[in-house]
Amino acid sequence: MSEPKGKNLTWHEGQVSRDDREKKLGQKGCTIWLTGLSGSGKSTIAVAAEKALAEKGHLTYILDGDNIRMGLNANLGFSPEDRTENIRRIGEVSKLFTDAGIICFTSFISPYRADRDQVREIMGDGDFIEAWVQASVETCEGRDVKGLYKKARAGEIPEFTGISAPYEEPRNAEVILDTNGQSVDESVAQLIAYLDKQGYLG
Ligand code: ADX
Repeated sequence: MSEPKGKNLTWHEGQVSRDDREKKLGQKGCTIWLTGLSGSGKSTIAVAAEKALAEKGHLTYILDGDNIRMGLNANLGFSPEDRTENIRRIGEVSKLFTDAGIICFTSFISPYRADRDQVREIMGDGDFIEAWVQASVETCEGRDVKGLYKKARAGEIPEFTGISAPYEEPRNAEVILDTNGQSVDESVAQLIAYLDKQGYLG
């Protein structure tokens, strides 16, 4: 963990514990860290899984790459340093959501293994669920929902992940969702079955 720049800081405990919040909510807070190429299906899966969980009465939240880059991280671009800072901040934010007892989905390419591992490191045991949304560049480029692969191939987007910037595949993901070969519904069912089996859903 990076040392805070500020000195003379004191941690203040509240009088309502995480346990209290989780009991109230009937669930265990966690972060489902969806990682994968642009167009792999991260946001689609997060939205569908959130809806399914909401229908079962769970409290959830989605932190989405494009959305967060319009606000909190509007000052960050796509250089390796900026991506690392993007993930560091979201790691901290998702840690807060998890502590709030919420089932939090994050939807960021998060291409660097070290950055994802750093988030895992700052989270409590079992709070971080790395979910690799696995789809090949060919699959994502074939979908090209946002038209970005076409632009990247034309040289209009520098440092585009999968084309001109790296994606480091997870080595210890808790869940692998193969969207090359399975539908959104199947990926959502797989994810929810995992959460259920591991006891996050109360
Ligand atoms: S990350 O690499 O820092 O984790 P993040 O998930 O926040 O990326 O943002 C990725 C989204 O930004 C993509 O889905 C795409 O819409 C957009 N984007 C714009 N430029 C790039 C780029 N050079 N590489 C990847 N995605 C980009």
